[in-house]
Amino acid sequence: MRSKVTKAIFPVAGLGTRFLPATKSVPKEIMTLVDRPLVQYAIDEARAAGIKEFIFVTSRGKGALEDYFDNAPQLEQELRRKGKDELLDILRNTNMDSGEVAYMRQHKPLGLGHAVWCARRLIANEPFAVILPDDVIAADKPCLAQMVEAFEETQSNIVAAMEVPEDKASAYGVLDIKEDMGQIVSTKGMVEKPARGEAPSNLAVIGRYILTPTVLQKLNKKKAGAGGEIQLTDAIADAREEAGEEVYGFRFSGQRFDCGSKAGFLQATVAFALARDELREDLMNFLNDTVYAQKAAQ
Ligand code: G1P
Repeated sequence: MRSKVTKAIFPVAGLGTRFLPATKSVPKEIMTLVDRPLVQYAIDEARAAGIKEFIFVTSRGKGALEDYFDNAPQLEQELRRKGKDELLDILRNTNMDSGEVAYMRQHKPLGLGHAVWCARRLIANEPFAVILPDDVIAADKPCLAQMVEAFEETQSNIVAAMEVPEDKASAYGVLDIKEDMGQIVSTKGMVEKPARGEAPSNLAVIGRYILTPTVLQKLNKKKAGAGGEIQLTDAIADAREEAGEEVYGFRFSGQRFDCGSKAGFLQATVAFALARDELREDLMNFLNDTVYAQKAAQ
C-alpha cells in the first residue's frame, strides 16, 4: 500500500543568535516577514501539502510560539465588536485545532538530527515531513506539495535541493549524485557541511524533507557529525547506505530565502512585500529612489 505523508516536524529549538538582541526575548520563528511570522509560512506550506499533524521541537524561551497558535478569544471578541471581519478571518486562520499540534522539548542543543529524533514517538512508523522554517520558499505550488507529489511516485526519502555557488557549499548538506534525471536526482551519498573543495557536487540540501521511519532508527545511534552535532544528513545517508533505501534530491520550483541570515531575511521581506497589492507601489517608489540616491552618492 502507498503511504501518505500526514505529519510534519518543525525544528524550532535554535537560539537564533544571529538575530540578537531581538532573539533575547522573541523566538526567531516569530519574527515577521511583512506581517506574518516565519513559522506561519511554514505551517501554510505544510497544510497545502496535506499535513494534518504539526510537531514543533522547541526549547526554553519559545513560549511565544505556543501562544501564537492558541485561540485569542479576547482579541477576537474585540475585532467582532468593531466589525473587523477581515482581520478576524486572518486571526482565525492562524489558530490550530485541538490535537492538531504537539510540542516536544529538545533539552540540549545537540543538532538538527537530535531535534528530529526527539519527535520519534509521535511519528512512529510512517513517512514524515521536516520543514526548517528558516528556509522560506516562495512558489506558485508550495515546495512541500511539489515534494509530496514526487513522493507518491518514489515512496522513498526526498530532500529539497538547489544549486549553490561552489564556495557556499560548505554551509549546507551536499548531495553526491548518482543519476541526474532533471527535477529529480538519485544519490549515492550526502555530506553535511563538507570542507572547502571537498563537496561532492554543488547541489545543496534545502530545509524540506520527506523521510521514512528508517531515518529515525538511524538517529538512534546518536552519532556526532559535522560541528560535533547529531546531523540529520548523516542519518539519511545511513538509511541509504545501511538499509538500502533510495534518497532522492528534488529540484523544486520557487525562490528560496535563507531567513536564518540577516541578508536573506531582508530580501524575503522585500520580495513578500512586493507581492502584496497594497504595498507594491509605495515600496517600489521608495526602493527606486533609495537606489538612485545611493548610486548618486557613490
Ligand atoms: C541545515 C542542514 C543542512 C541544510 C540546511 C539548509 O543546516 O543541516 O544540511 O543544507 O539546513 O538550510 P543549518 O542551516 O541549520 O546549519
